[in-house]
Amino acid sequence: MLNRISVKRLKVGLHVYLKDVPWFKHPFFRSNFKIKKQVEIYEIQSIGCEYVYFDPALSDCPPLEEDAEVRPVQKNKEAASIKKERSTALRKRKEAFLKTEKDFFASAKQANKIMQGILNGQMSFGDKAEQMAHDFACLFLDDVETTLNLINISGSDDEVLYYHSLNVSILSCMLGKELGITVAEMKDLAFGALMHDIGKAKIHKKIVYKQSSLSKAESNLLKMHPLYGVGLLSGMKSVTKGVMKTVYHHHISNGGMGYPAGIEFEKLTLLPKIVAVTDLYDNIINNRDSTKAFTPHQALASMYKVHAKKLDENVLSHFIRMLGVYPPGSICELDTGELAMVVSIGSNPLLPEVVLCDLNVPKSEAMILKLGTDIDSKVERVLSSKDLSGEQLRYLSPKAKIGYYAESKKIV
Ligand SMILES: [Fe+2]
Repeated sequence: MLNRISVKRLKVGLHVYLKDVPWFKHPFFRSNFKIKKQVEIYEIQSIGCEYVYFDPALSDCPPLEEDAEVRPVQKNKEAASIKKERSTALRKRKEAFLKTEKDFFASAKQANKIMQGILNGQMSFGDKAEQMAHDFACLFLDDVETTLNLINISGSDDEVLYYHSLNVSILSCMLGKELGITVAEMKDLAFGALMHDIGKAKIHKKIVYKQSSLSKAESNLLKMHPLYGVGLLSGMKSVTKGVMKTVYHHHISNGGMGYPAGIEFEKLTLLPKIVAVTDLYDNIINNRDSTKAFTPHQALASMYKVHAKKLDENVLSHFIRMLGVYPPGSICELDTGELAMVVSIGSNPLLPEVVLCDLNVPKSEAMILKLGTDIDSKVERVLSSKDLSGEQLRYLSPKAKIGYYAESKKIV
């Protein structure tokens, strides 16, 4: 329960709530936090409010028994410019995030156009696909730092197929970079991953998007999609052998299962083994039946426990390491007790960027905060949607479908 307290009785160790103070009127990134430094007390006293609230259960100590002398912070030039710099950096980060989201949907539209063109036998779309694959590959070159961002998606079955292709392409390239593949391989991987399921467009939608179990005949037909895929791509100048092998072999699995038959897992090249891992991950988190979809964290655990044997061990372990324990889309509890959703990971997956569930800040203005840099917090545990109240769920709005897109910047 929260208790009202005069700002004159604040003490380091109290967990305070700036409930009645509009978020834009105080200098803090969150509206409730534990006071760690004396200067934070002076900053609270400088806001101009007489009372705040504190939570005894989350506090390390009781408040001061008597009012202390108030020493409002001097609004010096340096502090003002630091605050300005920080808020400019945060605004830029949010803008970059929104741009990435826009790029994702533009790429999905482009992928849709390209696949339709290829389906109609228009050879020129092969060059367009190659250009798109080249652009993706460039996001993952050695001299760029890549951030993997979460995109919330929803859409029709057809759109979801293009989103799936994009997700698999982006995750595959990121994994390829982890595995140290060459630039030429990266281009083949981006292209092959983008086209890996194009053969499904030759199969009736009722079968491709069926949510209940498939009959034997339907399942056999669906298993033809790698073959249909290479059929569609053959004859296009820009399609290399590496692309063809990626499309044809992406369902070959270790231990003699998988399809089409005819090649041993050990003899496979690396690229289809990469796509096998990212394809499975995306299918688990974006299950056609949304009631069966796993959270990103559960998906990684399931790949490790249930599916590891049929995948390439080295590729899978790099993938798990790359996404870390908090893949974008994970809902977490921080060590402060706050709820947050991971929206992107960069070079340190243990300190991701998150959106805090702070009901005092309007959802549209929620900032993207980097753990360990913007706020001195870390993830305590990963939650599932069931652990959140309706209000918290609406605020963080984890969508049933997850998209991934990359943002990159040159390392200087
Ligand atoms: Fe497939």
